[in-house]
Amino acid sequence: MIEELKKLKEQAKQEIERIKNSQELRDLEVKYLGRKGELTNILRQLKDLSAEEKKKIGQLANEVKNDLVEQFCQIKIEVEANKKREEIDLTLPGQKFARGRLHPLSQVQYQLEDIFTSMGFMVLDGPELESEFFNFEALNFIPDHPARDMQDTFFVEEGRKSDPNNRLVLRTHTSNCQVRAIKEYGAPLRAIFPGRCFRHEATDACHETTFYQLEGLMIDKEISIAHLISVMKTLLTEVFKKEIKIRLRPGYFPFVEPGFELDISCLICGGKKCPACKHSGWVEILPCGLVHPNVLLAGGLDPKEWSGFAFGMGLTRLVMMKYGINDIRLMQSGDLRFLEQF
Ligand code: DAH
Repeated sequence: MIEELKKLKEQAKQEIERIKNSQELRDLEVKYLGRKGELTNILRQLKDLSAEEKKKIGQLANEVKNDLVEQFCQIKIEVEANKKREEIDLTLPGQKFARGRLHPLSQVQYQLEDIFTSMGFMVLDGPELESEFFNFEALNFIPDHPARDMQDTFFVEEGRKSDPNNRLVLRTHTSNCQVRAIKEYGAPLRAIFPGRCFRHEATDACHETTFYQLEGLMIDKEISIAHLISVMKTLLTEVFKKEIKIRLRPGYFPFVEPGFELDISCLICGGKKCPACKHSGWVEILPCGLVHPNVLLAGGLDPKEWSGFAFGMGLTRLVMMKYGINDIRLMQSGDLRFLEQF
């Protein structure tokens, strides 16, 4: 019987080593350890032996059994791992990652920043919670100018309490950065200021309380309207990727003199007049002008020595025009059905 056990152990070992899959594993387990298995058969015969033999052979039989159980456990782990490997089908297409993307506003903002930095402009930032001074006063708005009225501007209670002469507002435009930049960097100066602005508006498809502008300022000696036109043409041709015709109409803003509304030839009809341009051939795109002497003075510059131009582009509006977006409320909706199109 001892011989029989040793032979069984040897034979099982060889067979277990040859196992290739879970079916073979199961068959072998039954063959050796099953109720009618070979080892079980031997164990069953123990009861007919003498006490001494029972002890000796029983111990050996148990050792063989434990050894087999262990070997099966080991091979089971390997077979499972192999099965996993077999389950990966390398010919199948991989799983798609959900990738984020830049908001269309950011995309256009970064594009504009590239265009302006290539022309030597800095990209600067300014506070969204601003003093009335930088938002209005420094820009030559008289104290009772309607733009300061509660209708247009969000005044902030806290600022009202701390200094009644210099209240805090949510900036109504990015022009608040003009005098800040002049004070900080002096002249000559070339900078753009993209950012978020706020107005007390009743919201509809064309109006939002929160929107984005991109302000520009260039100060140097003998800056003229020719410089303004040249920079604006370069910019708009880059943005719309085609030659753009522009025209200037007079427009009033307290911080520029003269001030203009800049129009571009209609992108839809190319200037031939269509419903999109209200049959005029032109579309209003941005206000601009030559920097008012009082603004230069507020920044500490001598207007006899320095001059400049400024413009205030409605970034939100530009993006809407570029992509044909017809409702401003979509821009900040966070709606993925909208955002995934860009
Ligand atoms: N800040 C003005 C607004 O939001 C726009 C503007 C007009 C900006 C003329 C300028 C400018 O820099 O020169 O209505």
